[in-house]
Amino acid sequence: MPSQIVTLTLNGAERELIARPSMTLLTALRETFGLTGAKRGCAQGGCGSCTVLLDGRPVVSCLVPVVTVDGSSVETIEGQADGERLSDVQQAFVDGFATQCGFCTPGMIMSATALLDRNPDPTRQDVIEAICGNVCRCTGYEPIINAVLDAARRRRQAASDSEEREPAGAER
Ligand code: FES
Ligand code: FES
Repeated sequence: MPSQIVTLTLNGAERELIARPSMTLLTALRETFGLTGAKRGCAQGGCGSCTVLLDGRPVVSCLVPVVTVDGSSVETIEGQADGERLSDVQQAFVDGFATQCGFCTPGMIMSATALLDRNPDPTRQDVIEAICGNVCRCTGYEPIINAVLDAARRRRQAASDSEEREPAGAER
């Protein structure tokens, strides 16, 4: 099969690449776009270190042919911070010492972010299930689970603070 032009929204920006049929999304991110946050661990779908969000859902990018993401939105760890300001999940990982070697961290954060985007008040079990495809060899998982629950609390607090500042229906 010939190479194909693929257009996608990558961390909010329209991007394009010419892809071989065998190219994975992970390879495109790392080698074409220079986004090396998603890690190549097993390259077989088993470790989660390459997790990114595809149209808001976490996927292992090592198993996604990049030609199939044409027209889709992809979010990676590089798109999470707002300038110097880390995302709530990133900050909770830092504050909760949920990172050791860091190899699993981008994938963990993307899985956790997807969870909090669809469920702002997860239980401990919800968190465990959300990150069950992400392998960590360092932390024993407890600090990671606690960090995700802490990020959820921070997010709910921020939402409630912002509602208090601007009650629903308020006009400027
Ligand atoms: S590198 Fe993709 S799941 Fe391990
Ligand atoms: S922090 Fe090292 S693999 Fe998770």
